[in-house]
Amino acid sequence: MKELFILVVVTVFTLVTYYLVEPFAHHQMHKHVESENFVYADLPALTKKGDVTRGQELVMGAGACVGCHSIKVAGMEPAMSPADAAAAYGVNPPDLSNMGAVLDEKFLADLIKNPAHALMVEHKFDAAKGQMHPMVPFYGAGGDIDQEVADMVAYLKSIAVKGEDLTPTIAFENACGRCHAVRYEKWTQIGEKPNFKHEQDSLAYDIEVLKYQDSLKKYMGTLPPDLSIYIRSRGEHYIKTFIENPQNYLAGTAMPRVGVTAEAADKVIEYLEDSGDTKRHEREEVGKNVMIYIIIFAIFALLWKKQVWKELH
Ligand code: HEC
Ligand code: HEC
Repeated sequence: MKELFILVVVTVFTLVTYYLVEPFAHHQMHKHVESENFVYADLPALTKKGDVTRGQELVMGAGACVGCHSIKVAGMEPAMSPADAAAAYGVNPPDLSNMGAVLDEKFLADLIKNPAHALMVEHKFDAAKGQMHPMVPFYGAGGDIDQEVADMVAYLKSIAVKGEDLTPTIAFENACGRCHAVRYEKWTQIGEKPNFKHEQDSLAYDIEVLKYQDSLKKYMGTLPPDLSIYIRSRGEHYIKTFIENPQNYLAGTAMPRVGVTAEAADKVIEYLEDSGDTKRHEREEVGKNVMIYIIIFAIFALLWKKQVWKELH
């Protein structure tokens, strides 16, 4: 009876202490944000069905997109080096070849009409105060603007990779690569650093990266951090809910809402895991083997116990 009482007391105290140290303290220190599964409920759905051919004409013509963006799959090469583009716009306007696969269509439509709104940076860019976003809004080509925007979105989706061809690398480079370096993957904001034979070429490349970063720092107010091991320090849930709406965690931050689809977000996470947590597959494998070992061991222990007691009775 006394033993039972002691056991209950010890158990209760252990559980209370555990609760205070782990879940309670954790809850007090970290705000919990639920994911909205990248549905972007605040953005209006597309009401028009887009026409790919008309969309192509607009993107290449009246939409003026190729004035700032390259579209390599359509043979449109960048007009300037990334460092020069960053000097002009603050950041290199990303290539549009695969944006139709990486970004949500409602987000794309809103972005074309009102970049600061879609990107959630209206606190930084208020047209009424003359603070223009470097991406010029599309004011229409003379017809129904919603139809024109739907046409451009349809065109961007038609040229982009489909299904399984959307790799973690494509997702990351398009959605995050113009602002964040990932040293472990040799990714810099101006591209993947090649293996140069000559030290001089390697240093010249580094200088371009530094020039780019200078402009980016001015544009963002701070240099976006290298994301090599962020998957470890922040975890998947934080990163996913953070990119869904950076303002949730850092009110007033310069990092835009990027507008990725749920699939592309998973690919971005996979890229960050490949970079910062390369041993994860091996770890899972070891975990499984340890469980199998424990089960086999338990069976033997049980059999052994039976054997010993049989002789005692
Ligand atoms: C005057 C230059 C300019 C024009 C014209 C322009 N853009 Fe942009 N665009 C930018 C810049 C700069 C950025 C990067 C903004 C940032 O990251 O803060 C950008 C970003 C983007 C992005 C990435 C957004 C994201 O969430 O990652 C897409 C997609 C895009 N533009 C599409 C278009 C389309 C489509 C058009 C034509 C209708 C267009 N842009 C016209 C300069 C321009
Ligand atoms: C237009 C530039 C830009 C793009 C694109 C961008 N970021 Fe950022 N990011 C920033 C800036 C600036 C900060 C620093 C924010 C701050 O300190 O206010 C940041 C911070 C972060 C942080 C750190 C947050 C923290 O808690 O400290 C993470 C994680 C992150 N970004 C992930 C991403 C991912 C993943 C993508 C692509 C889906 C992405 N970012 C796209 C500019 C960008």
